[in-house]
Amino acid sequence: MSREGYSRVTTRFLKLGDAPEAVFAHVTEPASALTGKGKQMIGKKMVDAINEQINAEFYSSYLYLSMAAYFDSINLKGFENWMRVQAQEEDFHAKKFFDYVLSRQGRIHLKAIAEPQTTWKSPLDAFQTTYKHETVVTGLINKLATLALKEDDHATSVLLHWFINEQVEEESNADALVQKLKMIGDNSGALFLVDQELAARVFVPPVAGGA
Ligand code: FEO
Repeated sequence: MSREGYSRVTTRFLKLGDAPEAVFAHVTEPASALTGKGKQMIGKKMVDAINEQINAEFYSSYLYLSMAAYFDSINLKGFENWMRVQAQEEDFHAKKFFDYVLSRQGRIHLKAIAEPQTTWKSPLDAFQTTYKHETVVTGLINKLATLALKEDDHATSVLLHWFINEQVEEESNADALVQKLKMIGDNSGALFLVDQELAARVFVPPVAGGA
């Protein structure tokens, strides 16, 4: 049964003057009167915006997985590994929002994920795309944070603090690699060394509830 269609039965006790059949009168209440599982505890505007963000995070995961495939095609396995880990991080972000909506009794609406770009001119081009994409995501997170303030939704504000900090790191990581690749230029020996460095990246899921 859907949450909207859910109803509950309550028991009311006999009072002086009640008819005998009212001793255990069963009253069916509409779902809107319920708390807990039967009622959305997060505002509609907020949950709609978070559902959009879940889509944006899954798109980010798709984009980085597409970049991993691109790096595989040019035999840069360390870069491929870095992008695979990045895609896992984005998947984690999407699911962090997903779990949060459920914990606030909200409804998830998963939407179609757009097809990402499949090829880039160079590793530098791919990381410039990464950096630019992360600045766009930062803008989306900031808009969510503004909405949470407008809606007086303090729980969502706390969640978004985690994402605001995360975006600082995401932009900084991408920019560091853009700068490194600019320095390297056409030096294939140096590119090989960076490839080895990026091969060491592993996905470490953040501890539950933490940053
Ligand atoms: Fe989930 Fe890279 O932002």
